[in-house]
Amino acid sequence: MKRKLRSGLSVSLLAVAACVALHSPDSLAARDAQTILKETCQGCHTPEANNALSRISHQRKTPEGWLMSIARMQTMHGLQISDEDRRTLVKYLADTQGLAPSETDGVRYAMERRLNTVEQFDEKTSQMCGRCHSGARVALQRRPTQEWERLVNFHLGQWPSLEYQALARDRDWFDIARKEMVPLLAKRYALDNPAWKKWLSTAPKSEALVGDWSFSGHLPGKGELAGVMSVSADGSDTFKVSVKGQYADGTPFNGDGSAILYTGYEWRGNVTIDGVTMRQVFAAQGNAMQGRMFEAEHDERGLDFVAAKQGSNRLLAVQPGYVKAGSETEVTLIGSGLTGKPNFGKGVEVVEVVSQTPEQIKVKLKAAANAQPGLRAVTVGTLKGPNLSVYSKIDSVKVVPEFSVARIGEGGGSTPKVQGRFDAEAWGKGADGKPYRIGVFPAQWKVEAFDDRAKEDEDVKYAGTMQADAGVFTPGDAGPNPARKMSTNNAGNLKVIAAVDDAGKSLTGEGHMIVTVQRWNNPPIP
Ligand code: HEC
Ligand code: HEC
Repeated sequence: MKRKLRSGLSVSLLAVAACVALHSPDSLAARDAQTILKETCQGCHTPEANNALSRISHQRKTPEGWLMSIARMQTMHGLQISDEDRRTLVKYLADTQGLAPSETDGVRYAMERRLNTVEQFDEKTSQMCGRCHSGARVALQRRPTQEWERLVNFHLGQWPSLEYQALARDRDWFDIARKEMVPLLAKRYALDNPAWKKWLSTAPKSEALVGDWSFSGHLPGKGELAGVMSVSADGSDTFKVSVKGQYADGTPFNGDGSAILYTGYEWRGNVTIDGVTMRQVFAAQGNAMQGRMFEAEHDERGLDFVAAKQGSNRLLAVQPGYVKAGSETEVTLIGSGLTGKPNFGKGVEVVEVVSQTPEQIKVKLKAAANAQPGLRAVTVGTLKGPNLSVYSKIDSVKVVPEFSVARIGEGGGSTPKVQGRFDAEAWGKGADGKPYRIGVFPAQWKVEAFDDRAKEDEDVKYAGTMQADAGVFTPGDAGPNPARKMSTNNAGNLKVIAAVDDAGKSLTGEGHMIVTVQRWNNPPIP
């Protein structure tokens, strides 16, 4: 009886919710950002002079940063806000209190979700702030002294046990945070920055992005790709996107979707390729777009992406980017406005131009047997940019990423597995004895126990499987495994080994991969 009543109630609640969603005033007349700030935030954030609100008006950050702050208002402070209003606010705040392109330089990896990045911050910032989250989360904000101070206070207030966790017992966290970190952060990441003022007054109009873009990409474990991305306007700062491309092995890369532009350059797209939703996180400036495109459900499966607007003149890439001395190979030049003769430098001869459009030139190359090993600047007419590597033998092999984290998943749970995805990079030795990168080579892949402990626990057997010909590691199922010691889960500590064949000689490279548990807390900025 009770059960019946409850299910009846929830059905009627759902029906009410559906009606509200369909007929809510929000969807009839979207509220503007100023109204939302007044009606939804001002209850807790005090109005100040010049139409400002306490806290909110004294920070600048990325769209993801704003989204996280507002989401925290919802989860921790009971803020009630519709998804639509939140989107409106994130857009408005990112546009009016965002970061200039130069302020995100060097830390875009966090938004691009390159989660295997090994960060480079000073020792103090790494220990004080980088033990819990990325240093990039800090570097992607701008605040005056008082706001950095309040942020520190918020950390301790919200998590009073902070000083006893996260390995923080080795120091007086709060004291160092207030006395040393706050001045350092206020200086390094000040609210006022001429670069931001300049960007606000010089940012190009978003219509400038409408048109066709020639792109080049690379997906670890799969290879290079190229194609055209067509962008058409679909409202202000929003776009329709369609992608037509192909991997070097012939696999098509086609799809459609939409994108939105924040802060005049932060391009965020959603494109469905072959039934799989991929996100685009690009910096779009002038005739160039650059960033990463990754699967929404598997951000480890992502490609480096660079594009040039058709009509502009830019040479983006050479695929593949290497040739062996004494051999012939076909390469493709990718860019926009490619006219004139391609040139590959000393010792490399163009045997034949197989095909040529302004976006792609296919060329048959021959490298002389005595061509000096090293990098050549590639040019097409007056355009330059990418290099071609000439090598006679591979000197060493690197596994990229050198250190990575894969995660068990599924096994009845809702969290997907996080794969390991690797490239084998061949390196040569130049005439000067210095190492230079030749490029990504096909390899044979395997994993081994990283140490004695891993060997004893048979991590290789349980932690997952490596695809021998692709460098793609799929971790084991989540949950306890009765076959393992103390029914532990399928975690593991592994060496990742790539063997590259160079004219019958096998060279190996080695990386380190930890296979660990699910990432339960997965905010937009790690
Ligand atoms: C129910 C009260 C409440 C409402 C409503 C509320 N906030 Fe907050 N907000 C807080 C409190 C408390 C803090 C300080 C603690 C913290 O940072 O979480 C705060 C802090 C902030 C900060 C500073 C965070 C930081 O990292 O320094 C921002 C930005 C912010 N709020 C934005 C908003 C926006 C935008 C809205 C409206 C959509 C909003 N808040 C609505 C209570 C509220
Ligand atoms: C004990 C772990 C811990 C430490 C140490 C820590 N943080 Fe955080 N930090 C958090 C958590 C948790 C959040 C909230 C994430 C969320 O909103 O979902 C956060 C959020 C932030 C944010 C985003 C706030 C916003 O709403 O815009 C910034 C910026 C930040 N931390 C900077 C720092 C700095 C600077 C330090 C070092 C002085 C630091 N953190 C040290 C755990 C930590």
